[in-house]
Amino acid sequence: MTQDSPNAPFASHERELARADRAVAELAAARRDRWYPAFHVASPGGWINDPNGLCFFGGRWHAFYQLHPFGSQWGPMHWGHASSADLAHWRTEPVALAPSLEAERAGVYSGSAVTGPDGLLYAFYTAHRWRNGSNEDEGNLEVQCLATSADGVRFEKRGVVVGNPENLRDFRDPKVWRQGDAWLMVVGRRSLDGRGEVVLYRSEDLLAWRPEGVLYRHPDPSVYMLECPDLFELEAPGGARRWVLCFSAMGARPDGYRFRNFNNAGYLVGTWRPGEPFSPEGDFRPLDWGQNFYAPQTLEAPDGRRILMGWMSPNGGPLPTQADGWCGQLTVPRELSLGADGALRCAPARELDALWDSARELGAVELGTNEELAVEQDLAVGCVDVTLDLGASTAERCGLKVHATADGGFTYVAYDDQTGRVVLDRQAARTGERGYRSAPVPAGALARGELTLRVLLDRGSVEVFVGDGEQALSAYSLPGDGPRAVSLVAEGGALRASRLAVRRQRP
Ligand code: FRU
Repeated sequence: MTQDSPNAPFASHERELARADRAVAELAAARRDRWYPAFHVASPGGWINDPNGLCFFGGRWHAFYQLHPFGSQWGPMHWGHASSADLAHWRTEPVALAPSLEAERAGVYSGSAVTGPDGLLYAFYTAHRWRNGSNEDEGNLEVQCLATSADGVRFEKRGVVVGNPENLRDFRDPKVWRQGDAWLMVVGRRSLDGRGEVVLYRSEDLLAWRPEGVLYRHPDPSVYMLECPDLFELEAPGGARRWVLCFSAMGARPDGYRFRNFNNAGYLVGTWRPGEPFSPEGDFRPLDWGQNFYAPQTLEAPDGRRILMGWMSPNGGPLPTQADGWCGQLTVPRELSLGADGALRCAPARELDALWDSARELGAVELGTNEELAVEQDLAVGCVDVTLDLGASTAERCGLKVHATADGGFTYVAYDDQTGRVVLDRQAARTGERGYRSAPVPAGALARGELTLRVLLDRGSVEVFVGDGEQALSAYSLPGDGPRAVSLVAEGGALRASRLAVRRQRP
C-alpha cells in the first residue's frame, strides 16, 4: 500500500494545469463539430463526466466537470471549468484542478463548492489513488480534499480534510452545504459489508470535519455504492418542507422500465432532522428516464431556486464523438420543484429562453392515419413544443421525428397510447447507441387529455421534458451528414396537436 504522505506534492500544480490546458487546446484545434454541442456545457476537447462544484460565485454561474484532458477516453481526472453570466451561454475557463498531491495521484474526482464566510470559494473533491501504485486490482484509496479560490478560476490546494480511516474501497463525491449555523457534507461510500451508503459530516469552519454517521443505507443488497449524493430541502405546494436525497446507484438490476442504464441516478423524498438518518417516504424515482443521464448535482440559486445539471453519460454503446476529439456533455440546467403528488418536477431553467428566437407557431395541426407532416427541413439545434390532443387523437403512437437525415436515420419522441408512456426511441439511429427508454405520462395530462412535450435539440443530443416537467428523458442523438429534419407523425390512427411551435437558436 502507498505510504507517502497524502498531502505531499508529486508535481507542480501550475505545470500540470498548463499541460492540461495545452492538451485540451490541441484536441479542440483538430475537433470535428458535427455533434459538438451548440448550447450545452462540454469541454473544447477531451473526455468529461460528472458536473462538479456547481455554484453562483463572483456574479457568475460556474459549472466544473470531471475532465480527462489528454484524450477523448476516460482517464486521470481533472476539473474542467465553464462559467456563465446568464445560465444559458457558457464560456470555457482554464482547467481548475489537476492531480498534483500523492492522495490524488490517479485523479481529482467529483465534488462540490460553496462560498465561505471569508468570501473564498471552497471546492471539496475526492482525491483518488490506487492502493498499490498503478495496480487497480487492489482497489482505490479515496479521501476528501479542499481547494480554495479567490476568483473562482485559480485554486490553492489545502489538502485532505476527511480521511478514510476504515480503508473503504469506494468513498467519494463530497457535497457540502450550509445548514443553520453549521456546514454539512454528504459522501457516498461502499460500506465494509459491501452496501451502498451515504454518510454525513459536520463542520463549523469548513476545515475540521467530524463524522455524524450513516444518513442512508440502500435497502437493495445488490447496490454496492451510491455515487454523487446530494441532500436538500424543497417547499411542497401548501408550504410544507420536504427533504430530497439524490444519488447515483451502482449495481441495481433492471426492473421493468426502471434501472435500465448501466448505473442509475434518482431521488427519494422524505424527512430528515440533524442527528437522525434520512427517512424516505415513497419509492426511488428516476430524475431522468433517458439512456444518457447520470451523476447529477444541484445548487441553490441566489433567488432560492434549486438548479440541477447532470452528465449525459454513455450507456455501454459505441461513442462515435471520441473520433471527433471530444466525449461527453452536461444536460441543460433544470429547475427542480415539488409537485402536489410528492414527486419532483424538473423543467429547463427559465434562463434558457435567452437561447431562442421568437417561436414559429404552426397553430393546431391534424394528421390522418399514418400521415407525416414536414415541420422543418433542417433543425440541428432548436426547441420544439408540441401539445398533443389525446382526446381527439386515435394514433397508437404519435409525435416527432427529429434529427432525421437522408440516410434514413432519426430519433423518435412519441406518445405511446398502448403503454401510456412517452418514448425516446433511437432504433433508427445510424450512428451511436440504439434502444429506447420511456417515461410515464403524468396523471394530470391523462386527465386533461392533453400532453405537452418540450424537445431541446442540440447537434448531438435530445432532451425531452414532459408536461410541466413531471418527467424528463435525455439521450445522445448523432445524426448523419446533411440537413436534419423534423416531422410530426401519426402511426396506426389520426393525430391532433393543439399547438406546434419551433424556435431556433438566436444568432
Ligand atoms: C460518477 C463518478 C464519481 C467519481 C467520478 C470519477 O460518474 O464515478 O463517483 O467521483 O465519476 O470520474
